[in-house]
Amino acid sequence: MIAPLHSTPFDDGFIWGVASSSFQIEGAVSADGRTRSIWDDFTRTPGVVKGGDHGDVACDSYNRYEDDIDLIAQLGANAYRFSVSWPRVIPGGVGAVNDAGLAYYERVVDSLLERNIEPWVTLYHWDLPSELEAKGGWMNREIVSWFADYARAVVERLSDRVSHWFTLNEPQIFLGHGYVLGEHAPGKKLARKDWLLAAHHALMAHGRGVQIIREHAKKPPVIGWAPVGSVTCPRSDDPDEIELARTQTFAIGDGGPVNNTWYADPVILGHYPEDGLRLYGDDAPTTHVGDMELMRQPIDFYGVNIYSGDLLRRPEDNGHAPPRWTERGYPRTMFDWPVRPEALYWGPKFLQERYGLPVYVTENGLASMDWVHADGQVHDSARIDFISRYLGELRRAQADGVDVRGYFHWSILDNFEWAEGYRMRFGLIYVDFETLERVPKDSYRWYRKIIETSGACLPASPVPVR
Ligand code: FCB
Repeated sequence: MIAPLHSTPFDDGFIWGVASSSFQIEGAVSADGRTRSIWDDFTRTPGVVKGGDHGDVACDSYNRYEDDIDLIAQLGANAYRFSVSWPRVIPGGVGAVNDAGLAYYERVVDSLLERNIEPWVTLYHWDLPSELEAKGGWMNREIVSWFADYARAVVERLSDRVSHWFTLNEPQIFLGHGYVLGEHAPGKKLARKDWLLAAHHALMAHGRGVQIIREHAKKPPVIGWAPVGSVTCPRSDDPDEIELARTQTFAIGDGGPVNNTWYADPVILGHYPEDGLRLYGDDAPTTHVGDMELMRQPIDFYGVNIYSGDLLRRPEDNGHAPPRWTERGYPRTMFDWPVRPEALYWGPKFLQERYGLPVYVTENGLASMDWVHADGQVHDSARIDFISRYLGELRRAQADGVDVRGYFHWSILDNFEWAEGYRMRFGLIYVDFETLERVPKDSYRWYRKIIETSGACLPASPVPVR
């Protein structure tokens, strides 16, 4: 039988989005009363960010947001995930609310709504006010109430127009890279006991954030979070392999900060996972009465950022047979992440089955070597292939009954990619960082077609990556 060329479309009501974050696109770091964040400080430390890059101008979206939102509208996206900068809203991190900072996000929200694009607002995408880091940052238990005050300020101002909220973006990465490896702001290398305490506070801040949104929202809120998803994919449809892959997906693994369950089990099931408690022993955080209840607030969806995935190691591999992705020459993106489209099948499926919440893919994309070709266009065929394959797998998950309701491409614009600076380009739109000119890439037009046809233009059956 010849496989059909085109897929059945995604279900009606599917959310077609694009994503960004404040520090990565806004620039204008001293405008309208904004104070410094840990990323402003970190980027000033010699040698930590490639090329000595910083966020002072970034994409200048603080001044060019209308143009950017026009481009999102022309793309046909029905949702835009962006984050609010804490030091714009509460300069110095605690105390008086800065009206001018909030007014900026109000303008962004209004511009989106005028164009029928639903704002999906992330409260924390890593730009912690510097003054709070000086008081210990995520290590200080008081951060729960600092975050609550900040969340309240945002919700009070925007929730008559915003319904969709994320508390934290990728706690695994801001802790893992920022507090364990020291490769992201604030550049700390904490002992295990200490970063586990910081994680404990982050999970409490998440819970408190959910409470604040529910208490103060003027429109009925839809609340989730956006952790990173670490996914192990089976190598075949053999049920035993699938179970092993599920077990690995939800294992604490080597005990490092990047895993699913140390974060999601408390938030959704109300307790830390057994294997983690066993492994961490005395390093596990001392829990005060009420901490676990605070973390476990009802949320409405599971947002997850998935870029890649591991391939199952079978027990009989005994550590000798390399998983597929370590094979010589296996396709990788510019970030060196293996191209693993089936992670968008297994990740949402496993997460939905374990946690019972509707899933949104809140980030997915790739860094590639883009430039403006001699004909004035950016021909990013790798991104087109990547998006097609990953969305094909997500569509397969939906067809198999996984309750997956949306996809946000990371990112709308090339932007400041943290420790990698501006060299890693993730955008559907190319940014010339000298002139700040925007050039929609070929992938922008391809994603527009996917949105227009609700995925029906995607190839029907997955082709193995090689
Ligand atoms: C994620 C971050 C996002 C972006 C992508 C490439 O870890 O949430 O800000 O940097 O990776």
